[in-house]
Amino acid sequence: MCGIVGYIGHRDAYPIVIKGLKRLEYRGYDSAGIALFDGNTLEVTKTKGKVADLERVALQKNSMKGSIGIGHTRWATHGVPNDVNSHPHYSNSGNLVIIHNGIIENYEPLKKELIARGYTFHSDTDTEVLINLIEDVQVNENISLEKAVQIALNQAIGAYAIAVFDKRVDGEVVVARLGSPLAIGVGENEFFIASDASPFIEYTSSAIYLEDGEMATISLQKEICVSKIKDGALVDPYIQKLQINLEQIEKGGFDHFMLKEIYEQPHAINDTFRGRLLPNEGVIKMAGIDDNIDKFLNAKRIIIVACGTSWHAGLVAEYIFEEFARIPVEVEYASEFRYRNPIINKDDILIAISQSGETADTMAAIKLAKQRGAFVFGVCNVVGSSISRETHAGAYTHAGPEIGVASTKAFTTQITVLALIALRLAKQKGSIDNSQYHYLLHEMEQMPSKVTETLEQNDLIEQIAEVYKDYSDCLYLGRGFNFPVALEGALKLKEISYIHAEGYPAAEMKHGPIALIDENMPVVVIATKKGHYEKVVSNIQEIKSRKGKVIGIVTKGDTSIKAIADHVIEIPETLEPFTPLLTTIPLQLFSYHIAVKLGKNVDQPRNLAKSVTVE
Ligand code: G6P
Repeated sequence: MCGIVGYIGHRDAYPIVIKGLKRLEYRGYDSAGIALFDGNTLEVTKTKGKVADLERVALQKNSMKGSIGIGHTRWATHGVPNDVNSHPHYSNSGNLVIIHNGIIENYEPLKKELIARGYTFHSDTDTEVLINLIEDVQVNENISLEKAVQIALNQAIGAYAIAVFDKRVDGEVVVARLGSPLAIGVGENEFFIASDASPFIEYTSSAIYLEDGEMATISLQKEICVSKIKDGALVDPYIQKLQINLEQIEKGGFDHFMLKEIYEQPHAINDTFRGRLLPNEGVIKMAGIDDNIDKFLNAKRIIIVACGTSWHAGLVAEYIFEEFARIPVEVEYASEFRYRNPIINKDDILIAISQSGETADTMAAIKLAKQRGAFVFGVCNVVGSSISRETHAGAYTHAGPEIGVASTKAFTTQITVLALIALRLAKQKGSIDNSQYHYLLHEMEQMPSKVTETLEQNDLIEQIAEVYKDYSDCLYLGRGFNFPVALEGALKLKEISYIHAEGYPAAEMKHGPIALIDENMPVVVIATKKGHYEKVVSNIQEIKSRKGKVIGIVTKGDTSIKAIADHVIEIPETLEPFTPLLTTIPLQLFSYHIAVKLGKNVDQPRNLAKSVTVE
């Protein structure tokens, strides 16, 4: 939901900000802009389109000078994506300029007041309201920019990460955050500002992550001053050492981040295991669980909240938890849960799953559950993210940066973490016996190599994608542990190829979707050996007798389905609860190849964003 980047120091800001914006394009990519200040002139360049379009416009204008720069890549909320609504936005006087990620919910009454005081507006954005509100406060009270930002933000309702500067004050940028992330890179006499650390990791490994409700004045003369937005109270900034490196956020020879991330899954799952899964010792070590084991053992119910692909991981976890740990689980869309007055008891545990750790609805669900006394556990990928800090305890997935907007390795590593938790609890509760437990741990350890083996089907999957790329619909069916995988497969196809797809529990087909089946309907059926196999084979017969096309995801060596399906893609044999880690892989590759063949922008599908920090 919009990416922001800033630089203040001794170098040219333009190349740093542009490169940073490209790294943050996963957050939004419908328009982009940059403001540069060279000590005399403040120049704003902005355009509808991508950062590459912005570069073209900047080149034409020859406006690339300045050692202070702030840039923005937008995912539109207020106002259509066009040049005028793009950020940065000026204040009426032209002295102040702002970039903003988030939403100012009360922008309408604020705008009315400002119009009544003579302000004019050029865009439809809430951001232009905010910058004029800051200016109004600054002019009326004759105070510093820092103080004016603080006062103005106390009048604003909503979410924001902002960077603002005043062309009359050289060498100073004011930033603030509430509900949207903001990191400050600290170099030698230079500072970087960004929605995440990726824009500045080649310059510095030291960063300050502002907490919600904090602001900072970054000044080349006075360094960094962090304070509370509410009352201006000073805060001691905590400088962290970054854990990511450049290689992790580059494509490494792959055509797309999505493909790279699909192929990273064996490695990512191993990273999720590292130090936790110890089959030879018969142990699963997870500090977040070990430290709170009584809470988990006494929990009457686990509620899982998440959005998008993370919600699908939650559904897989429901099956796995109930299978092994015998704890009742409910899985909720965070956006529904937060608004429906849910019943939350003190002995409930809420598990929030989020790759980014920034999703606004998931964050709101966490806050609600905490208010009502539940213990909240986070499963996040991004270290230090807002959700990882808001939860009482948690476990990171350690998948490494996921940049493709369509989530792949985050999904499989979320399932991995949740399966580890389920097994850890099952052992402690005695809901599985010792020999079964040891067997499960050893089988789990095999999963990365089985994922690698599944990836070897890539060429075959590409050929199948060629056959189906021009179909307009696709149905995905699965049962049990693989029902959520059917949902995830359909989501992947929709997200990146824009082909209509639906996931269904296989047995539900006869209650509706079967009416859709004819020779124009490809049906991807997940039919692994132990997953209600005979029943799913009957479903395939039903599809075939209505001329539907069947792509079966089957266990290696399966001959029955091969005889009736149009295509089969094999996965290695494993225990049924672990099959989602394998059956997901062909579905990711299938949607990837179809999208590439259709010429779609795989890593940045239209209208989507990776990190959804607005409701
Ligand atoms: C967006 C992304 C999805 C992701 C969902 C939840 O829609 O495009 O890939 O699954 O948000 O994000 P989270 O970061 O909370 O897992």
